[in-house]
Amino acid sequence: MSGKALNIGDQFPNFQAQTNEGNIDFYEWMTDKWAILFSHPADFTPVCTTELSRVAQLIPEFNKRGVKPIALSCDTAESHKGWIEDIKSYAKLPSFDYPIIADNKRELALKLNMLDKDELSAEGIPLTCRAVFVVDDKKKLRLSILYPATTGRNFDEILRVIDSLQLTQTKSVATPADWKQGGQCMVLPTVKAEDVLKLFPEGVQTIEVPSGKSYLRITAQPKD
Ligand code: BEZ
Repeated sequence: MSGKALNIGDQFPNFQAQTNEGNIDFYEWMTDKWAILFSHPADFTPVCTTELSRVAQLIPEFNKRGVKPIALSCDTAESHKGWIEDIKSYAKLPSFDYPIIADNKRELALKLNMLDKDELSAEGIPLTCRAVFVVDDKKKLRLSILYPATTGRNFDEILRVIDSLQLTQTKSVATPADWKQGGQCMVLPTVKAEDVLKLFPEGVQTIEVPSGKSYLRITAQPKD
C-alpha cells in the first residue's frame, strides 16, 4: 500500500530517517528553511552519480535561495558513505555537504509515492523514480516532479522554478514560458486594471490579441 498522493499546497509529512550524517527528523533538519528532497533508484549508478554531483556543485545557489537539499537512495547509510567518495571524485569537490537518506527498506519511498513499478532492482523489487519535492519554510509542498530512472534531472530548471516560486509568492506576477531570473513577468489576471499603475509603477505593456481581451500584460520583474 502506498501513501496518499501529495498535492501542491499540502502539508509535507514529517518523517524520521537514517542518513550518512546520522538520524534526522525532517522538520527539525529543515529548521526555518525551504528544502528540496530528491530521490534516486540506487547507489553506485551512473545517472544518479551525475545528479548528486551537480547538486553538490550547486550548493552555493541553493544557499542563496535559503533551500537545503536532501537526497534519498534505496541503500544503507554505509553504502552511501562509500558512494559519496565516488561522487566527490566525479564532481571534483573536496567535500559533500548535504545528507542522503538511507531508505534501504523503501519505507519512505512507499510513504511518499516514489516507487516506480517498472524499474526493478536485481532482486525484482521496485526502485524509486527520480522524484523532486520542494517544501517551503511553512512545510508546504510547493513543487513536485517525477522523472523516470532513465532521465537525469535538470537542476538549473529546478533552481529556476524555485526563483519563480519565491518571486510570485510576494508579487502580483506570474512567470511566463522560459522565464529566467530578471526577465519580464506577466501581471496576474486577478489584478484589476485600476490597480495596475499603483502595483507596477515601472509600467505595463498590454499585448493586443484577436480576441480583444486585455489579459497579456507584461511588466519588468518587480524588485525585492
Ligand atoms: C542510473 O542512475 O544510471 C540508473 C539507475 C537505475 C536505472 C537506470 C539508470
